[in-house]
Amino acid sequence: MAKAKTRFVCQNCGYTSSKWLGKCPECGTWDAMSEEVVAVEKAQSFLPQVEVPRPKTLKSIAKERIGRLVTGIGEFDRVLGGGIVPGSLVLLGGDPGIGKSTIVLDVGMKFSSEGIKVLYVSGEESEAQTAMRAERLGSAGDNLLIMTATDLAAILLQAQAVRPQVLVIDSIQTMYNTELETPAGSVGQLRECTSKLLRFAKSTGIAVIIIGHVTKEGNIAGPRLLEHMVDVVLQFEGERSYAYRVLRALKNRFGSTSESGIFSMEASGLREIDNPSGLFLEKRADQVPGSLVAAVLEGNRPLLVEIQALVARTPYGLPRRTAVGVDYNRVNMLLAILEKRLGMDFGTQDAYVNVVGGVKIAETAVDLAIIGSLVSSYRNKAIAPGVLALGEVGLTGELRRISFPERRIMEAAKLGFHKFIIPQGNLHFDKQKPSGIYQVHSVEEALAAIFA
Ligand SMILES: Nc1ncnc2c1ncn2[C@@H]1O[C@H](COP(=O)(O)OP(=O)(O)OP(=O)(O)O)[C@@H](O)[C@H]1O
Ligand SMILES: [Mg+2]
Repeated sequence: MAKAKTRFVCQNCGYTSSKWLGKCPECGTWDAMSEEVVAVEKAQSFLPQVEVPRPKTLKSIAKERIGRLVTGIGEFDRVLGGGIVPGSLVLLGGDPGIGKSTIVLDVGMKFSSEGIKVLYVSGEESEAQTAMRAERLGSAGDNLLIMTATDLAAILLQAQAVRPQVLVIDSIQTMYNTELETPAGSVGQLRECTSKLLRFAKSTGIAVIIIGHVTKEGNIAGPRLLEHMVDVVLQFEGERSYAYRVLRALKNRFGSTSESGIFSMEASGLREIDNPSGLFLEKRADQVPGSLVAAVLEGNRPLLVEIQALVARTPYGLPRRTAVGVDYNRVNMLLAILEKRLGMDFGTQDAYVNVVGGVKIAETAVDLAIIGSLVSSYRNKAIAPGVLALGEVGLTGELRRISFPERRIMEAAKLGFHKFIIPQGNLHFDKQKPSGIYQVHSVEEALAAIFA
């Protein structure tokens, strides 16, 4: 095959050059030149002579409904919006070793036992290694094909011959296009390989799942450009030292992005957790100062989390503040509110806040639970079991509304909670409203209710 003509394009300003440059002469950015294939332009009149696609009326299209490919892994299907759409390009990103290959191989095996043909291409592991993992996961049907390759042209050729319904690329960083001279994993290669896969998916109707590593900055496959090209971006995350994993949709052209799937990593692969709300409360020690439960929303589902705090006398000098799982600055702010509004003195006290189970919370609805656990530890007074505290705390010590309080309360009620401290506001319960709801205006009122 003749070498394609390539050029180097600055990813910052678009400057082009015939050779690679370390620094762009136009905008001065370092290491931004990436190789791209130059499309051969054919002489053509303005109006093309060839057959062009015809527009259709919306009504005639709506009749041809596309059936989704359903894995049978409930959590996975739900995040995708009810299964994979044929001809779509799905990008699955996540930290190294989090379990991306495991979940996708599991999906492939489930598909194959449903009679859906899958071609799993690994650029990282040999066929034997993949088979070893598959053995751990369970049994597959005859429709799962495994291949180790990194040359994209060869892969697409094989895929065309085999005609699977789903093609898996593990991972995009190991794939390369021989038309470019840059190594696999470079910006140019990533873009070129992804756009080839995109065209392949759209023209054949084969669904393509691409695995991508996440860089230190948290972007999938380095630059965000891949996220624009694909139909669905899934993020697989979790703390490596804990067993639970969360699958989130960051972008979905065919479904909601507010869904999430929760799994636990076990020796036999990933097990889905259908009812995760109480997952992190299992080993809760009752009646110890410095612990209070809040409910956060993971996608659409409420998840109960235990917030722990420890307030201890500073042995020397500057008091220490530590926050694990919640925002450090937020904890400092809440401590300042307690000092100013309630006259507590943390100037000589270390304060540690921790969310049990390695959960990371970005919601401000846990403010009140943080405050409650801090005060509980400060006063050395345990909070009675069965108390749930929800609410964002403002700088004047007022309690601000949170989203979907009903959903969180109902979930906690199911798990045996019976006292709910929440901000003032309207509540709309579909079913019967549980008793024990305290609607309060301020932190003082909330604390009075919590310790009553
Ligand atoms: N024999 C085993 N028993 C239990 N868990 C295992 C076993 N082998 C692997 N694992 C788990 O699987 C995880 C690796 O999963 P996997 O290889 O799917 O991750 P990955 O995201 O594809 O990683 P990479 O980025 O390296 O491709 C390990 O972190 C480990 O927790
Ligand atoms: Mg892998």
